Amino acid sequence: PQGTPPSPAVSAPPTFRPGLEGVPATQSAICDIEGQRGLLTYRGYPIEQLASYSSFLETAYLLIWGELPTIFQLREFEQEVQMHRRVSFRIRDMMKCFPASGHPMDALQASAASLGLFYSRRALYDPQYITEAVVRLIAKIPTMVAAFQLIRKGQDPIQPRDDLAYSANFLYMLTEREPDPLAARIFDACLILHAEHSLNASTFSARVTASTLTDPYAVVASAVGTLAGPLHGGANEDVLDMLDQIGSIDQVEPWLDRAIAQKQKIMGFGHREYRVKDPRAVILQGLAEELFQRFGHDAMYDVALKLEEVAERRLGPKGIFPNVDFYSGLVYRKLGIPRDLFTPIFAIARTAGWLAHWKEQLGANRIYRPSQIYTGPTERGWLPLESRP
Ligand code: ACO
Repeated sequence: PQGTPPSPAVSAPPTFRPGLEGVPATQSAICDIEGQRGLLTYRGYPIEQLASYSSFLETAYLLIWGELPTIFQLREFEQEVQMHRRVSFRIRDMMKCFPASGHPMDALQASAASLGLFYSRRALYDPQYITEAVVRLIAKIPTMVAAFQLIRKGQDPIQPRDDLAYSANFLYMLTEREPDPLAARIFDACLILHAEHSLNASTFSARVTASTLTDPYAVVASAVGTLAGPLHGGANEDVLDMLDQIGSIDQVEPWLDRAIAQKQKIMGFGHREYRVKDPRAVILQGLAEELFQRFGHDAMYDVALKLEEVAERRLGPKGIFPNVDFYSGLVYRKLGIPRDLFTPIFAIARTAGWLAHWKEQLGANRIYRPSQIYTGPTERGWLPLESRP
């Protein structure tokens, strides 16, 4: 019988979403964000509870192995990390060749990658190798951050101290002074707040790298490089520059007017996921106040408060509120930490999240290979040099 032949099935062209906004790229049981309500949980535990009651190493264990450790598991993990804090003299010597003017994030990326030269076995499905790699990275990244700080000042790095817990030891290696217990506790809480945040840019980068079945040192090194940018981890440095530039409370409104008129991004504000104030910013603000009460006020805090108040009126209706970076710089400055170490400290914390995603990726791996929408020229022939226009 006559009739129109059935048309071949035409599949709809894929929708292009710049920045993969709203596109699920994995399934994950590690961290959940409810951006409209400002809720953040790690493995189901609210961030507020973890920041108040947990320790960074306990939280890292939770993120990576999925459950809170028993006392025995926690003590064993703490001990293992403590035993692996030292970094080979060959890596320290390599770091001495880095230019002192280089950014500590670049130094950290190179040092993290160099661990692969010593420890890579790619025994990715051996639970013991996974544990060893987790322990080494969590233990050695802080030592390398502190070592570069001393090396660039022309000093020798100092060795970790076995009698100090994770955060206290890091502050000791960095400042060469045993920290006040309150300062160490607040720093530890900061690490908890920065430990994980679902599929942000650096974690996505970690998962993509992990999906090729390369070694975990390469996974962390690629994530460190991704975290370094000013739209991601690097924003915490820029916040203090911005507050310094504003200078005083009475300059906040005119500065913000100008910035908005020039379509400038306000550093430490805005987030792809949150439409309210980032819950981590709420906690960090409380920690900053605790520090100021104990160790003296920071006039820039008043500028920050005023900026938050004024920006809420101007940017709040667009869902733009302070993010994790807005108050973290003020906390770190009060702890005596140099500005360009804020992002490396973020990396110390986020190593726990990256490793949790590395392990999860290996559990159900499929190499990442998204498609693209080609916008270049259609096929054409090569021309000899003399025939080209
Ligand atoms: N200041 C002023 N306006 C902003 C800000 C900001 N900080 N953030 C977003 N906007 C505005 C944009 O100008 C844009 O407005 P328009 O629609 O009128 O053009 C709208 O809000 C959407 O902004 P996008 O940049 O498209 O939002 P996106 O989700 O891509 O960006 C990001 C999120 C990168 C965090 C952005 O808010 C930003 O650049 N913030 C400043 C840098 C910063 O603080 N980064 C740290 C983020 S937290 C972290 O990574 C740890």
